[in-house]
Amino acid sequence: MMFLRTTKNVKNIFNNVSYKYDFLNNLLSLGLHQLWKRKLVKLANPKAGENWGDLCCGTGDISLLLHKKILPNGRVIGIDNAKSILDIAKMKSKIPKNNSIYWHNKDILSIKKTDYKFDGICMSYGLRNLNDIYKGLNKIYGILKEDGKAAFLDFNHAREKSLADKFQKFYLRNIVVPISSIFKLSKEYSYIEESIKDFPCGNELIDISKKIGFKKIQFKTIFFGQMCILLVQK
Ligand SMILES: C[S@@+](CC[C@H](N)C(=O)[O-])C[C@H]1O[C@@H](n2cnc3c(N)ncnc32)[C@H](O)[C@@H]1O
Repeated sequence: MMFLRTTKNVKNIFNNVSYKYDFLNNLLSLGLHQLWKRKLVKLANPKAGENWGDLCCGTGDISLLLHKKILPNGRVIGIDNAKSILDIAKMKSKIPKNNSIYWHNKDILSIKKTDYKFDGICMSYGLRNLNDIYKGLNKIYGILKEDGKAAFLDFNHAREKSLADKFQKFYLRNIVVPISSIFKLSKEYSYIEESIKDFPCGNELIDISKKIGFKKIQFKTIFFGQMCILLVQK
């Protein structure tokens, strides 16, 4: 059945998977998602004292990584519109106790320019989930300071029938969906392949970023073309 990628449907997915989200991410990527997330934060290069946003923060992995870099005096705000997944982020950030991470239950697409002014923004596996990627990137542009940076990690939309594309489809269909079905979450995880199909490929992401006004745009693929990182500056 075709999945309609409305904000409400996507929110339901992440509320449903919230309690299994970290466990399944670790299992299905064999822990590699942590390496890719660390790479993203390294490339984003946050500095002590800065204010960073982790948009579509989910269970907060990126917020926790950013937090280590911006101390002392910096601040991280993790933003997500799915309450259940944000509750897990809140729980994770209590150990160790810290006072520099804040969690906001908000829809990225309804953020106003005046709501935030970040030195930098990270978004991992979030952009692909927005029902309007152009609007999402435009919102991000609006809430960055002048010269502010944004870094995105996501599944790469590889060229149709390339080795990377074939491997990605094989892995999603034969490993990810069957394993998630053990936890009664196959519908939720089948959505990944659908969402990659609609996700712009590298050149398109570069073009959209240029149109919005970003400069210093870099796009790279990692892990044999399975994942991608987009780096932009205002
Ligand atoms: C695949 S998860 C990624 C979570 C986390 N960043 C990670 O890498 O593990 C995508 C997240 O985006 C959130 N999300 C999707 N659309 C959103 C929107 N319009 N506003 C805020 N959060 C959104 C979902 O609730 C979900 O937690």
